[in-house]
Amino acid sequence: MKVHVFKSKEMIDQEVATLIVSKINAKPNFVIGLATGSTPLGIYQELISLYQQNKVSFKDVTSFNLDEYVGLEKMHPQSYRYYMNHHLFSKTDFNVENTFFPGETSENYDLLIASKGGIDLQILGIGGNGHIAFNEPGTSFDALTHETLLAHQTRLDNSRFFNSLEEVPTKALTMGLGSIMCAKEIILVATGLNKAEAVKSMIEGDINVNCPASILQNHINVHIYLDEDAASLLEGN
Ligand code: GLP
Repeated sequence: MKVHVFKSKEMIDQEVATLIVSKINAKPNFVIGLATGSTPLGIYQELISLYQQNKVSFKDVTSFNLDEYVGLEKMHPQSYRYYMNHHLFSKTDFNVENTFFPGETSENYDLLIASKGGIDLQILGIGGNGHIAFNEPGTSFDALTHETLLAHQTRLDNSRFFNSLEEVPTKALTMGLGSIMCAKEIILVATGLNKAEAVKSMIEGDINVNCPASILQNHINVHIYLDEDAASLLEGN
């Protein structure tokens, strides 16, 4: 794991977006794994801005989103399909036909990813309980894409996007930890004090299903981008 600590979230957003653009320019049919939540929003804004400056085209890029709620209409404002259309796809030249979500296709998601050559770069956030995508504590490290029950903490955390906790779905479809570990390269971004404990367990704790993100220690090409708050509990900080 390579850990990069930045003074501000804006600097991380610029750095990661610039990196993504350089990789797409080197390989126009790039396959990218995308995340939702508040963490990647700034990266997506930077990507839109670089697109508007003609520094990149996404027309031949294929994307695979990590996860999707079960039980929300595709166009529900809190569905992850709506989020991606709204925050990235509709504001760039992504070909929506090349953007994939678990549950939207009848094909096996992991086989579909493999048929496109695998994920070149997976973008990840992390939940306050150490989850990645919707792989909650206790999920097998070998799991592929599957349906899962959401942890109470995750529903509470995500209830800020809904009118009430009751409206937050109880289930989701998610790429498994085994699916995520197949990505050729992974960038995980975490900012804010509320992520500091999870970040410490992920980087300095044992590899343990209680912290799903700790499995990333076994991946050979992982970069962790942190702000100073998220890094504040790490040794040496
Ligand atoms: C959600 C998503 C994850 C995301 C996490 C953190 O539950 N399924 O992919 O990384 O929450 O979200 P945020 O970036 O809003 O803190």
